[in-house]
Amino acid sequence: PGLNYLAREAGKLYFGTATDNSEFNETRYQHILNNYLHFGQITPENSMKWYATEPEPGVFNFTAANAIADLAFRNGMILRGHNCVWYDELPAWVTANNYNASELAYIVANHCGTLVGHYRGHVCNWDIINEPLNDNGTFRQDVFYDTLGESYIPIALRAARAADPNAKLYINDYNIEGVGVKSTALQNLIKQLQADDVPIDGVGFESHFIVGEVPTTLVENMQAYAALGLEFAITELDIRMELPETPELLEQQKTDFNTVIHACMSVPQCVGVTVWDWTDKFSWIPSSFPGYGAACPWSSDYVRKPAFDGIAIGFEGG
Ligand code: G3I
Repeated sequence: PGLNYLAREAGKLYFGTATDNSEFNETRYQHILNNYLHFGQITPENSMKWYATEPEPGVFNFTAANAIADLAFRNGMILRGHNCVWYDELPAWVTANNYNASELAYIVANHCGTLVGHYRGHVCNWDIINEPLNDNGTFRQDVFYDTLGESYIPIALRAARAADPNAKLYINDYNIEGVGVKSTALQNLIKQLQADDVPIDGVGFESHFIVGEVPTTLVENMQAYAALGLEFAITELDIRMELPETPELLEQQKTDFNTVIHACMSVPQCVGVTVWDWTDKFSWIPSSFPGYGAACPWSSDYVRKPAFDGIAIGFEGG
């Protein structure tokens, strides 16, 4: 059985994956990626980011992002937008910090409105705000916060809502998957946005975990978000290990993937699960965490790992 098939049988909207344009020229990769039984949802890993979509002020380029949107459309897969406002992967003209508050407010609204508007009716859920918080729960000091304070968040969300009233608007972050100070801070931010009538529909739990170290409070944490009246999703799941792989580590990884799926299964507001690429071949982990890897459910030669079974069993209720 495929993972998306099992997720849908279990009442979730999708099991999906991130993918990147550079991976498209591999026939075997494409063969599995295009299989709706496995993937009912696609997130562009990089090609909707600001540097790719608005490389010069007011000059938009959707070529790479459109290729991924087309793939999702051809296969009947849900498309997740990733992302509108993030401190990372900004073009130099944004980070140069040359703009005053009213200029930057226009730039943020124009970027979000144009990007979301371009995919109006095609993107179901959007990571509008990506990684706004530090691990201690304070706001990240990036060009947006430094110039606009917290106001960049409502500016972006309102522009996105206006551009596509039917898309679900998310804030996406990491280290908010378990109970803790960062998760509490994000819940407080959500409450403030709701009190101010700012459109916000969902929260993305990135879920870049380490084998044997999955937070033990996933369900309790999800219940806290559910109580806010939001939906949420696991948006960037991978579970890395210190290399080399061993049978014991792969077994623990299977347990860990199962724990995450089980948590999503336990809370109805968890709508779906996305892995941050499905094969170790194209995982971002080895280049960012030297000595770590093997974080995905398929090996680098496209063989299903025990982790695959951990996911499948989770959707089957085990
Ligand atoms: O495409 C360029 C290429 O033209 C250039 O020659 C080369 C040299 O640096 O870089 C290539 O870009 C790289 C890009 O991935 C595409 O492969 C960037 O250097 C590299 O930094 C970038 O890494 C991505 C990272 O976000 C930063 O944008 C990872 O693939 C991607 O997995 C990662 O994804 C993030 C999510 O967006 C947000 N949450 C965390 C997650 C993991 O960091």
